[in-house]
Amino acid sequence: MKIGFIGSGNVAQTLGRALVRLGHDVKLGARTPSKLNEWLQSFEPGEKASAGSYQEAAAHGDIVFNATPGTVSVEALQTVGHQALDGKILIDLALPLDFSNGDLRLSVANTDSLGEQIQRAFPNTKVVKTLNTVTSALMVNPRQLAEGRHDLFISGNDIEAKREVTGYLKDWFGWQNVIDLGDISSARGTEALLLLSSRVYGAVGHMNFNIKIVR
Ligand SMILES: NC(=O)c1ccc[n+]([C@@H]2O[C@H](COP(=O)([O-])OP(=O)(O)OC[C@H]3O[C@@H](n4cnc5c(N)ncnc54)[C@H](OP(=O)(O)O)[C@@H]3O)[C@@H](O)[C@H]2O)c1
Repeated sequence: MKIGFIGSGNVAQTLGRALVRLGHDVKLGARTPSKLNEWLQSFEPGEKASAGSYQEAAAHGDIVFNATPGTVSVEALQTVGHQALDGKILIDLALPLDFSNGDLRLSVANTDSLGEQIQRAFPNTKVVKTLNTVTSALMVNPRQLAEGRHDLFISGNDIEAKREVTGYLKDWFGWQNVIDLGDISSARGTEALLLLSSRVYGAVGHMNFNIKIVR
């Protein structure tokens, strides 16, 4: 499958590498694509990894990931434009973290979310919010904790798109439990989980943990 990433930082490189290793054709979108030379050189001949502009990455992907800082995601996606994203699934894993006051806050919360902002800005794109509650190493390898017996959440307005992405999460990375929280407004809950996970990080000293819903 052809997969595009808007953003080329830690998450894009980690997921991108895992997907290339699975045989997918992955293009990371960057403001300065030459920054990805080292990442590109880490692959074997024949593996399908490339870099380009945000526009090129979006046009490349049958599925596109938003992996930009949440405070600038809508702006970054608007530089891509609608044409390359209309009709596609956009997996949004960004978090609207605002450190501008020196303290961690969410730039959007309570009555709105980043997922909803993106869906409103791109009404013809199927925005699916997921993976945003775990660190990048866990996104691609949930089995490293408790043999994978912990939970991921998914939010979005398009039921078929969520079903498709849930299948990818299982097939690509081995996620066994993906809980459908409902429409994209449910991203308010998962984005706000960061307020808890940042405190857990402060307490345990690393991000290698996740939530399990016991019922
Ligand atoms: N890291 C994690 O484990 C983790 C876990 C869950 C969710 N997330 C979320 O996933 C997203 C990506 O995280 P990350 O760790 O990969 O971040 P990162 O390493 O800082 O990479 C961010 C990417 O966004 C680009 N970018 C930064 N400012 C921009 C702007 N004003 N306009 C357009 N592009 C801009 C950067 O481009 P340049 O390289 O050109 O600066 C870079 O490609 C964030 O929303 C983060 O909150 C991360």
